[in-house]
Amino acid sequence: MRRVDDFRLRFGKRELVPIMCGGMGVDISTADLALEVARLGGVGHISDAMVQTVSDRRFRTHFVKEKAKLYKYNAANTDKSDVQFDLGRLAEATHMHVGRTMEAKRGDGMIFVNCMEKLTMNAPRETLRVRLSAALDAGIDGITLSAGLHLGSFAQIEDHPRFRDAKLGIIVSSLRALQLFLRKNAKLDRLPDYIVVEGPLAGGHLGFGAEDWSKYDLRTIVAEIAQYLKAEALDIPLIPAGGIFTGSDAVSYLENGAAAVQVATRFTVTKECGLPEKVQQEYYKAGESDVVVNTISPTGYPMRMLTSSPAIGAGIRPNCEAYGYLLDSSGNCAYINAYNREVAAHPDEKKISVPDKTCLCTHMRNFDCWTCGHYVYRLKDTSRRLPDGSYEILSAEHVFRDYQFSVDHEVALPA
Ligand SMILES: Cc1cc2nc3c(=O)[nH]c(=O)nc-3n(C[C@H](O)[C@H](O)[C@H](O)COP(=O)(O)O)c2cc1C
Repeated sequence: MRRVDDFRLRFGKRELVPIMCGGMGVDISTADLALEVARLGGVGHISDAMVQTVSDRRFRTHFVKEKAKLYKYNAANTDKSDVQFDLGRLAEATHMHVGRTMEAKRGDGMIFVNCMEKLTMNAPRETLRVRLSAALDAGIDGITLSAGLHLGSFAQIEDHPRFRDAKLGIIVSSLRALQLFLRKNAKLDRLPDYIVVEGPLAGGHLGFGAEDWSKYDLRTIVAEIAQYLKAEALDIPLIPAGGIFTGSDAVSYLENGAAAVQVATRFTVTKECGLPEKVQQEYYKAGESDVVVNTISPTGYPMRMLTSSPAIGAGIRPNCEAYGYLLDSSGNCAYINAYNREVAAHPDEKKISVPDKTCLCTHMRNFDCWTCGHYVYRLKDTSRRLPDGSYEILSAEHVFRDYQFSVDHEVALPA
C-alpha cells in the first residue's frame, strides 16, 4: 500500500515531500507553521493578507496605528476614497514579513506566499505590484496567486529579476479560469510552475456559487484540467486542494498523476497555527451542521465558516482608516453599504446588526471569522480529549507526518 512519502513533488532538480500547506489569511498560516512544513521537506505558505497588521503583531511595528492616525479625519465619512496605502510602507511591511521568514528557513522544503487579488486595497494594480515585487525582493521561494483570475499579475512583475526563477503558481477552481489565465499570459512566454486546483470543500473563499458549490467535485475538475493540459502538451504540476483529509486521500490523487496536494484544515489545530486556542477548540467541537457556506464576505466570493463565527451578523463600524484591504479602486466595500443601510434603517439603535455582509478586515484580524474546510467536523477524530473536555492541540510535525506516512485512511493520534 502506497504512502504519500512514496511520491515526490519535482520542481526542476528539486524534490519535495508532496504536501503543501495552503495559505491561510491573516496570519492563520503563520511563519512558524510555514517554517515547520519547510523543515519537514514540504511546501509551507505564509500569506500577505493584511500584512501591515501582521507585521505589527510579529515585529511590534506601528503601520496600522500610523495609517489610522493619518486618516482619522475620515472615520465618520462614508466615502473612503481618500484612504490610500502608502506604497513604500506596504513594501516595507511585506519585506519584513517575508524576509524574516526566509531568514529563519531550515531544511529542504520551500516557503511560498499566498497573494489574494481580491485584496484590492483602494488601488488594486499598484498595491498588487508592490506586494508581489516586495515578496520577490525579500527572497520568497514562490508566490501562489489566489482569490481572483489574476489576468494581469504576471505582467506586473515581468521585469523583476526573479520573474523566471521564483516559483509562480495560481489557484483555480475551473478549467475555464485556467484557460483565461493561460491565454492572457501567453505572450509573456512564462507558464505557471504549478496549478493548485481548489475544489468546493476547501476553507476560505470559494471559486463556486454559494448555492451550487455542492454540485461540483474536485476529482472531476482535476481530471478535466489534466486532460486539457495533456491535449495542449503542457507539463505543469497539478496540486488538488479541498477536503483531502487523510494520507490515503492524498495518495489517491498522487496515484492519478497529481504532483502534490494542498491541505489546510488539518493544520488549523496545531500549535504553530495562528488561531487562538479558544478558536481551535471551536473547530474541534464543530459538528457537520455547524458549517455554512455564506456570502457575508464583501469580496463577492462565497466563504465557508462555522455558524458560530462572531463575524456573522456583527454590525461594527467599518474600520477602513486602519485597515481598508477590501476597498475597491474607488474606495467602496460592500460592507460599508450594508452597514450604512442598517444605520439608516435603525437610527435610534446603539448596537446594530448587519446580516448580509461582514467587516472582514476587522473580523479576520481579530480571529472572529472562523473559516474552515468542509471536513472541520472530523478534526475531533485527529486528537485526544483531555480530562477537562477540551482537545489536545497538535504539533504541525505530527499532522505533516501523518499525511506523509499514514495508510488505510488511518489518522494517527498524538503520542
Ligand atoms: C482557516 C483557513 C483560511 C484560509 N485562508 C485562505 C487564504 O487566505 N487564501 C487562500 O488562497 N486560501 C485560503 N484557504 C484555503 C486553503 O489554503 C486550502 O487551499 C484549502 O483549505 C484546502 O482544503 P482543506 O482545508 O480541506 O485541506 C484557507 C483555508 C482555511 C482552513
